[in-house]
Amino acid sequence: STPRITVVGSLNMDIVVSTKRMPKVGETIHGEAVHYVPGGKGANQALGASRLTADTRMIGCVGQDVFGETLLRQLKENGVRVEALEAVEDQMTGTAHIMHTPDNNCIVVVSGANESCTALYVQEHKDAIQSADIVMAQLEVPLEAVMEAFALAKSSGALTILNPAPARALPDELLQLTDYLTPNETEWEFISGTSDQDEERLAHSIMEWQSRYSCNVIVTRGEKGGSYSVNGRLVTVSAPRVKPVDTTGAGDCFNAGLAYSLAQRSQVGDAVKFAVTAASLSVQKFGAQNGMPTLEEVLRVQHD
Ligand code: RIB
Ligand code: NA
Repeated sequence: STPRITVVGSLNMDIVVSTKRMPKVGETIHGEAVHYVPGGKGANQALGASRLTADTRMIGCVGQDVFGETLLRQLKENGVRVEALEAVEDQMTGTAHIMHTPDNNCIVVVSGANESCTALYVQEHKDAIQSADIVMAQLEVPLEAVMEAFALAKSSGALTILNPAPARALPDELLQLTDYLTPNETEWEFISGTSDQDEERLAHSIMEWQSRYSCNVIVTRGEKGGSYSVNGRLVTVSAPRVKPVDTTGAGDCFNAGLAYSLAQRSQVGDAVKFAVTAASLSVQKFGAQNGMPTLEEVLRVQHD
């Protein structure tokens, strides 16, 4: 059956400057081009889930400006239900200022209207949560909104996925409401308070965390794929080797794939494999949303 996924999160206009290499602090270099493309971790994950054929809703806020209009139109055109998205007064649509090289990026996000996605706002749009099989969130909207969303999700029996990006300290209360936590390696070091993780320490930190909070941890590891832990043993699903064009949004694509696959009641290992495959397709196109693969495209690679 068609999975119902609701995303609570951010929408940003990505202002992307492509360069051959990252500038150093204090250095000035020439960029090659500037592009304005739809982004925001929330919107990226929603669009990704919708491309994979999930029945997708999004709860979030933009400003009453051209960027906001563009972002909403992009989601609508990609099948995302936008009833719980509002253009709020007196706030500019969020922007992300991205320096992009083919295999790396640096991002500064200015939240703007995303700050208006509060617990109260989520409460006002709770229909979108109560009808979902899976509720997913990131950390580009106020934490109180994520907590409210997950509390509602748990009380209606939905599965919750928290992509803790950008990283910040997570209250126990939120972790108790989280079924799957999906940090990247840097975020995991921050959250778990461990650094320089070799495979063994990574396995250990995941296991410890899982038993403390009974929430599953899946660490995304870029070109290495994704890792999780079974009985203290690290399982890594490696990514297909591809030539990246733009890695922006790869993590979002991973989360969309994971949600889609878990909603189909896949085992964790299969869901991670599906997510890693989807993410490896996404990095082969420029733009966070532009590269989100269709279900067919993911299945074609998986069957090769
Ligand atoms: O995860 C990628 C996203 O992070 C970009 O689209 C940008 O908007 C930032 O939010
Ligand atoms: Na991409």
